[in-house]
Amino acid sequence: MSFEKIGIDKIGFYTPEFYLDLADLAQARQVDPNKFKIGIGQDQQTILPADQDVVTMAANAAAPILTAEERAQIDLVIFASESGIDQSKAGSLYLQRLLGLSQAARAFEIKEACYGATAGLQMAYDHLTAHPDSQKVLVVASDVARYGIETAGEVTQGAGAVAMLVTRAPRILVLNQPSAYFSEEVMDFWRPNYSDTAFAKGKFSTEQYLRFLEIVWREYQTKTQEQLTDFTALLFHIPYTKLGLKGLRQMTADASEDVQQRLLQKFETATIYNRRVGNIYTGSLYLSLLSLLQNAQLADSTKLGLFSYGSGAVGEFFSGEIQSGYQQMAGLTNVADLLDRRQQLTVKEYEQMFAQTLPTDGSTLEIAPVSPLAEFHLTGITAHQRQYR
Ligand code: CAA
Repeated sequence: MSFEKIGIDKIGFYTPEFYLDLADLAQARQVDPNKFKIGIGQDQQTILPADQDVVTMAANAAAPILTAEERAQIDLVIFASESGIDQSKAGSLYLQRLLGLSQAARAFEIKEACYGATAGLQMAYDHLTAHPDSQKVLVVASDVARYGIETAGEVTQGAGAVAMLVTRAPRILVLNQPSAYFSEEVMDFWRPNYSDTAFAKGKFSTEQYLRFLEIVWREYQTKTQEQLTDFTALLFHIPYTKLGLKGLRQMTADASEDVQQRLLQKFETATIYNRRVGNIYTGSLYLSLLSLLQNAQLADSTKLGLFSYGSGAVGEFFSGEIQSGYQQMAGLTNVADLLDRRQQLTVKEYEQMFAQTLPTDGSTLEIAPVSPLAEFHLTGITAHQRQYR
């Protein structure tokens, strides 16, 4: 086993520049706004415009955090997504070109619903452990969560990408081993190839999330002998913040009131951004990490526990240790500013944006840029090929 410190050295984020206030959605759907705000635990959701997709969001998340030297050093590019743009070609290849990454690299895409980025992170760890000459790995989680107009899942939609540079001697979070994981074929949430919206057995999916959490947390404790009191904060996959809260309550049910309060306060800090962005599937856990890193004061070597869940289903519980001076590398993207600068849409405008689709018959469509903060845009499609600038 390696004793090298490997983990997250830099982290970046991009979310499209339009949002819907969920009080407006509640009114349009004739639902009490408190159901969305308190019952679901979400305030806003990002809406994806025509000039963005999972590739441009990934590039927009990664570009601002990478130096020219790092771009040349990355020899593994992992693109994790539930909502990839192609059944065959990996999103990481577009990313490699757009970002000017080294071509002496492995580049591929990973899919397992909301678990893909965690698989990517663990694979990055293994790659750096197994290849002493390798220096840096880029893991990008990019998704648009679409359930459809007037569906139960509509309130939990969202879009965004998280980019993580994984290295030795990382400056944000050292990943600890071992972790605990569990997989089982479960039909709780899925998206057949012919559908651009997800199918979910809503209540059943929340039960599976909590069941998998219980299994991997118990297994993690058996493997490591660690207790709740060893953790400064617990982070969760956040399809919507209320489900993470249920996970926290389940884990802390037998804890002292002090421990419950301390972890609850950190949970609230860790979900500030998720409340405003919505579900970004495989990036959601890492957006929660970013929310904690940018809004809490964490002491050196503080231990974080992370629960990753991807429907279908895979669960993993792992931990990481905060590195001194983490604020600088965790603050490369000013997320609060990005969220504040988004443009609010009416429900009607959201529905129009949601209905926009690309031609599937090979015809040409040009798309005007509408995202001023984005460096990369989808400019159109021609002969079934997406065009990026
Ligand atoms: N004020 C306050 N709270 C209210 C309220 C009001 N006026 N009205 C209702 N509520 C509460 C309810 O009591 C309920 O609380 P509890 O969960 O604590 O019981 C909560 O609001 C939600 O109400 P419902 O259960 O009636 O909500 P719903 O039937 O509309 O469905 C949902 C909710 C199942 C999450 C649905 O939004 C959905 O299907 N979402 C998509 C699937 C999903 O996100 N699953 C998560 C697990 S799968 C996963 O993690 C992978 C992934 O990312 C998809």
